[in-house]
Amino acid sequence: MRTVVFDGGRLLLLVMWLNLLPQTDSCPAKCVCYNEPRPTVACQQQGLSSIPTEIPVRSQRIFLQSNSLTMVRSTSFSSCHNLTVLWLYSNNISYIEARAFYGLEKLEELDIGDNNNLRTISPTAFRGLTKLHTLQLHRCGLSELPVGVFRGMVSLQYLYLQDNNILTLHNDTFLDLANLTYLYLHNNKIKIITNNMFRGLINLDRLLLHQNRVIYVEPRAFTDLGKLKSLFLFYNNLTVLTGETMDPLASLQYLRLNGNQWICDCRARTLWEWFKRFKGSSSELECYVPDFLAGRDLKQLKSEDLEGCVETSQIQTNLFGSKSGKFPSTESPLGNTIPRCCLRDNDKSSILSGKSRQITNNPLKEKENMSNTKFKQQERTKNETQIKQNDGPLGTLSNNLDKTLENLHPEFIENPESATASNKKMKKCVKKPKSDAHCIKSQGSTLQMLHFPVIPMIWISLAMS
Ligand SMILES: *[C@@H]1O[C@H](CO)[C@@H](O)[C@H](O)[C@H]1NC(C)=O
Ligand SMILES: *[C@@H]1O[C@H](CO)[C@@H](O)[C@H](O)[C@H]1NC(C)=O
Ligand SMILES: *[C@@H]1O[C@H](CO)[C@@H](O)[C@H](O)[C@H]1NC(C)=O
Ligand SMILES: *[C@@H]1O[C@H](CO)[C@@H](O)[C@H](O)[C@H]1NC(C)=O
Ligand SMILES: *[C@@H]1O[C@H](CO)[C@@H](O)[C@H](O)[C@H]1NC(C)=O
Ligand SMILES: *[C@@H]1O[C@H](CO)[C@@H](O)[C@H](O)[C@H]1NC(C)=O
Ligand SMILES: *[C@@H]1O[C@H](CO)[C@@H](O)[C@H](O)[C@H]1NC(C)=O
Repeated sequence: MRTVVFDGGRLLLLVMWLNLLPQTDSCPAKCVCYNEPRPTVACQQQGLSSIPTEIPVRSQRIFLQSNSLTMVRSTSFSSCHNLTVLWLYSNNISYIEARAFYGLEKLEELDIGDNNNLRTISPTAFRGLTKLHTLQLHRCGLSELPVGVFRGMVSLQYLYLQDNNILTLHNDTFLDLANLTYLYLHNNKIKIITNNMFRGLINLDRLLLHQNRVIYVEPRAFTDLGKLKSLFLFYNNLTVLTGETMDPLASLQYLRLNGNQWICDCRARTLWEWFKRFKGSSSELECYVPDFLAGRDLKQLKSEDLEGCVETSQIQTNLFGSKSGKFPSTESPLGNTIPRCCLRDNDKSSILSGKSRQITNNPLKEKENMSNTKFKQQERTKNETQIKQNDGPLGTLSNNLDKTLENLHPEFIENPESATASNKKMKKCVKKPKSDAHCIKSQGSTLQMLHFPVIPMIWISLAMS
């Protein structure tokens, strides 16, 4: 451009004019700068290893994606007060300084996605971004989001955090994000959805949590999500979800809960009842236990199907395969997240123990038959009932007793798949389900939770010796 041949006078004028331009208005090496539709600096795919220092201050868009950038300094863009779009995705950024984007009061879109080595973010990295409406942080190797990292981002509408290694989210991480409509958290490692995790998200429309490790949703986790239309929780490790938990989701239209391991006994009743009220569309919820309902869609079950209570140890066997010996069967990697059976302590008669009788191919008939023996079974003492369980095919139980007394291996929690090799289901026997099968919402301690499964193990061992 500057090599056009002019006559002497004009050339001199041109040179003078170029010199008068502020230094910052030149275009950085390897970049292309243009003004229409908006002042833009485009430096993508140039092999840059650092952010150019001479970016024109009037730039409204800066494209730096697909380079080899490794860090963002607090001074990198600080003079570009008119910046609205900043693309930094597909680099190798591992460090973003505190207040790196401070002063970018017009920034609307910030894409840092696909920087696999980012891993941690300064708690103040995004301070001052009050106009930001889109933040992309997917595929950044993030395992944690620092406390307060999204504070003050009142305009944020789209937040992409999928494909990271996020294990948990601090309380009130999104508290200021009243304008947020999409929150993408799929393909992370989140285990528990806590009551305070999604507080403040009063305008959230879409919450994607599929392909995590969610084993439990706390009862008030969705309290603020009255506008939510889509909730994806498929391919997680849920066993139980209560209707009370789902009740606040008054606008819900699309729900996916498939690919979990639903316990279809009395503990599923409130969810089953919630589905009767739910007007939107939902995936199937495949029952995992009891065996005679395995594969059935929880939503399609009859009320009678949800009577009774699958024994906790049986759930553990099915879910985690006790034969692998990876974890003691009195302790569950599910912790205290599976509510206790819906039974009073002195009435274990409707436990679906899976040990005393072979189930028939027809669960309904089996049930009818069981009702004949209802009273006999209720009269049984605990002692007899427990010893009787030893009749069944679970001869392996006594072999596992020593393990049951060991502490839970913490590494198992980190890597639960390692113990699922042997989760072949055993044929189960069923005792009479209790007619009054309303679940007690248990907030009980772990000890209480374990009370039932521990006792029979010991008795069985005594009986064997
Ligand atoms: C930023 O935009 C405003 C309004 O459009 C304009 O007046 C100002 O000159 C711009 N600043 C720079 C540094 O270009
Ligand atoms: C990315 O940065 C890390 C250091 O943070 C370095 O070890 C790695 O080689 C870099 N990868 C590429 C593709 O440049
Ligand atoms: C949502 O964003 C608009 C403009 O982007 C802003 O005026 C409003 O205050 C924000 N809402 C909340 C609750 O912060
Ligand atoms: C999160 O909130 C819960 C319930 O309000 C509280 O028990 C817990 O201590 C909080 N966690 C942190 C890290 O503040
Ligand atoms: C958790 O769920 C995933 C995907 O549905 C499954 O592959 C995995 O085996 C489950 N883990 C446990 C411990 O149940
Ligand atoms: C019901 O119980 C009787 C004995 O009490 C047994 O002969 C019969 O096979 C059982 N029927 C079913 C369907 O299990
Ligand atoms: C179990 O039953 C036996 C005899 O049937 C009795 O001696 C024993 O005390 C009982 N144990 C308990 C804990 O009830």
